[in-house]
Amino acid sequence: MTVTIVGAQLGDEGKGGVVDLFGDDADVVARYQGGDNAGHTVVVGGDEYKLSLVPSGAVRGKTGVLGNGCVVNPETLFEEIDALRDRGLDPDVRVAERAHVILPYHRVLDGIEEEAKSDSDLDAGTTGRGIGPTYEDKAGRRGVRVGDLLDPDVLRDRLEYVVPQKRALYEDVYGGDAGEAFDVDALFEQYREYGDRIEEEGMAVDAGDYLADRIDGGDDVMLEGAQGTSLDIDHGVYPYVTSSNPTAGYAATGSGLGPTTIGRGEVVGVVKAYLSRVGTGPLPTELTGDDEELADYIREEGGEYGTVTGRPRRVGWLDVPMLRHAARANGFTGVALNHLDVLAGLEEVRVGHAYELDGETVETMPPTTERWGDCEPVLETFDGWPEFDPEAVADEGYDALPEAAREYVEYVEGELGVDVVAVGVGPGREETVVRRNPFDQ
Ligand code: GDP
Ligand code: IMO
Ligand code: MG
Repeated sequence: MTVTIVGAQLGDEGKGGVVDLFGDDADVVARYQGGDNAGHTVVVGGDEYKLSLVPSGAVRGKTGVLGNGCVVNPETLFEEIDALRDRGLDPDVRVAERAHVILPYHRVLDGIEEEAKSDSDLDAGTTGRGIGPTYEDKAGRRGVRVGDLLDPDVLRDRLEYVVPQKRALYEDVYGGDAGEAFDVDALFEQYREYGDRIEEEGMAVDAGDYLADRIDGGDDVMLEGAQGTSLDIDHGVYPYVTSSNPTAGYAATGSGLGPTTIGRGEVVGVVKAYLSRVGTGPLPTELTGDDEELADYIREEGGEYGTVTGRPRRVGWLDVPMLRHAARANGFTGVALNHLDVLAGLEEVRVGHAYELDGETVETMPPTTERWGDCEPVLETFDGWPEFDPEAVADEGYDALPEAAREYVEYVEGELGVDVVAVGVGPGREETVVRRNPFDQ
């Protein structure tokens, strides 16, 4: 069977930890979209792993697959694999030959396009990893795929077609001074080396065939979403989004497994008990003005600084219309609710239960981001809960959580119509209250 893990909000909900937790029962963990814009944290017994491309199952020694829906920067992939090897892990990572490759010019263009957009407030505050420009080239049918790195003639043809276009864009439109990032020969040499290493290490696969064969052989597969539903290019707060589809439908397209296979499994939404956001765009429940001190407190307690960029994250109350939207768009069969410990000790905890828009109360997100920005949150107030010992509570089980915390969990369940299968009470593997393992059917 498959279990798909999807971010329900704006990324950084703690997906890495949930993949690690339930990944014990998986044989393979596959990413199906995004690239090294992701930063997934796994904390085990005091060791912290920050993973950008290598699927989070690597910490438990599970085979990782980067599906065809991913964009792969071979440089950062190999750096990450080497760094994990230095720490004593032995990551077994397979890469789809159909996945697209991030080249150095994609990163250069990502930065320069963001800068150009910033004059009109249209910059998304990207991670600068070249994600958008790579997906653009994929859709424009001028991308370079992992399989192309394995064949010198094909790689040269692809580069000779696309690189002069990029150089012209950089020089003539943006007035840049193109260097090696725009040089066909230099790129050919460097990327052929990556191709050789992919071949030597037996990493290249047809992801769909590979995963289907593993499932046919009785193995269980976890699909690890990156980013989150409100960063989805279709279902998110466009244009302040990433350039792929983190939502569960893409777990099929981006892995090569059929939608019926994904649909027969479980889809677990990961929810942070409040809201955090790196990057720009509106945020109706953001804690600003008089609430800035509270935002600083939550930011410090929750360590809300970007895993990839180190930027301080913006902080807000839980946005429940956003979660209703996510539950429908992904078809959640369960939710993992993280970071309840971060809110512990507050006298009161609020949620944005609905929005006030043009004098009316609405319970889901409006489809345009401008209208979303016009929404005033309708806040509901919960009693706060005291600090508690996370490991002891995780050990004892759900009933050991303070009563007010359980009320909060049950409110979320009631609003979304699905069970909270796990409650995160700290970053560590042992700091999660497990109520149901989605692999147990
Ligand atoms: P991801 O991108 O969704 O995998 O999340 P990140 O790793 O970017 O950010 C989540 C951060 O919160 C990481 O530092 C995690 O170790 C941490 N974390 C995850 N779950 C919890 C939790 O329940 N409580 C606390 N305090 N931290 C958590
Ligand atoms: P994980 O998987 C939080 C945000 C960026 C920016 C927008 C577009 O760790 O949850 P991109 O570089 O993708 O073109 O940036 O998306 N963003 C994330 N925010 N967590 C992430 O990943 C993110 N990946 C991208 O800040 O607003
Ligand atoms: Mg992250």
